[in-house]
Amino acid sequence: MNSLLTPMEINGLKIPNRIVMAPLATWFSDESGKVNEKHLKHYGDRKGPGLMIVEATTVSPEGRLSETQLGLFDDNQIDGHKELAALIEKNGSVPGIQIHHAGGKSTLKTNYGLLPLVPSKSGVKEGKECRELTVEDIHRIQRDFANAAQRAVEAGYRYIELHGAHGYLGTQFLSPITNKRTDGYGGSLSNRQRFVLELYSLVEKAVEGRAVVSIRLGAAEKDGLTLEEGIDTAEKLKAMGIRVIHISSAHSIPKLDVLEDDRFSPLFNISAYVKKATGLTVIGVGGIKKAEEAQLAVETGLTDMVAVGKAILCDPKWAEKTVSGKGDEIELCIGCSPCRWFTEPEKCPVRVKREN
Ligand SMILES: Cc1cc2nc3c(=O)[nH]c(=O)nc-3n(C[C@H](O)[C@H](O)[C@H](O)COP(=O)(O)O)c2cc1C
Repeated sequence: MNSLLTPMEINGLKIPNRIVMAPLATWFSDESGKVNEKHLKHYGDRKGPGLMIVEATTVSPEGRLSETQLGLFDDNQIDGHKELAALIEKNGSVPGIQIHHAGGKSTLKTNYGLLPLVPSKSGVKEGKECRELTVEDIHRIQRDFANAAQRAVEAGYRYIELHGAHGYLGTQFLSPITNKRTDGYGGSLSNRQRFVLELYSLVEKAVEGRAVVSIRLGAAEKDGLTLEEGIDTAEKLKAMGIRVIHISSAHSIPKLDVLEDDRFSPLFNISAYVKKATGLTVIGVGGIKKAEEAQLAVETGLTDMVAVGKAILCDPKWAEKTVSGKGDEIELCIGCSPCRWFTEPEKCPVRVKREN
């Protein structure tokens, strides 16, 4: 039986424990998209996860979700990432990064005037200023991902995660809600999967085995992409050679009729279903607050690795305490809705209590 602290090896990459710091956007950068001192402090404070996934980092200037999002679309952004990846490694975690394109979730404001690009205009809110992607645009964005992945490897990241969840570009292609294209990238499930599958293949080739390539896959949603379709995508990625997959939701979290384990959130259960169906090494996420919950998820075989999001924002020592057997000293996330860390991290009540 595995424990949360049992080391892992994925394609030769040694990971000291099964705690994953989930990708968590800080919006600490500026128009340059570069890493700065605030990032170094934020990630440097959070020692202990086996794998640390640096937040959604845009691959193209027109794919930004925020004006202050990190970027890897230009060579001059590499040096800052070198410093960040080296710091994470020095602190004992495997440095990973999530690479991202927001597609129709960008705006003219977040993009500094560049027009947002979408799979199909009929899938977006009326009046939104955007342009439908041509096939040339699609191929250019796929190359942007591959170039960003090469920069990530040069910077020292050993795990590269393609963002294919939460309503961003990967999801916009996979989901019938946002993909109304009538060419080879829309319509049938295999057409909707084409963008993501081609992307994985291109990035794998670009990385040439120098890092583990994974996807955060939005495997299901309400009234759109079904879990069966999500599992089908995971199966196809497995056949293409993917070894680890990070499972989350697509545009929204669906209601599941039956839970594999009702001690865990519906979101966490989605990853359990994908693991069971595909046999892939899975990172599960969703609602883990206590060290003992993360331990139970691994011990019962529900997941292979546990990503911790809001709880590790609230208590930067979440993983350090867990690894040193002091999980009962974790300052617990109280689950604000919405989470303060989206817009005003200084107002997180757990943080305010600690700092006063
Ligand atoms: C402040 C904040 C920022 C986030 N940023 C990202 C991100 O950059 N990429 C991503 O895939 N998910 C992001 N998420 C989602 C988390 O990674 C995670 O999937 C979600 O919070 C559920 O896990 P939890 O219950 O452990 O928090 C973010 C969530 C929060 C609260």
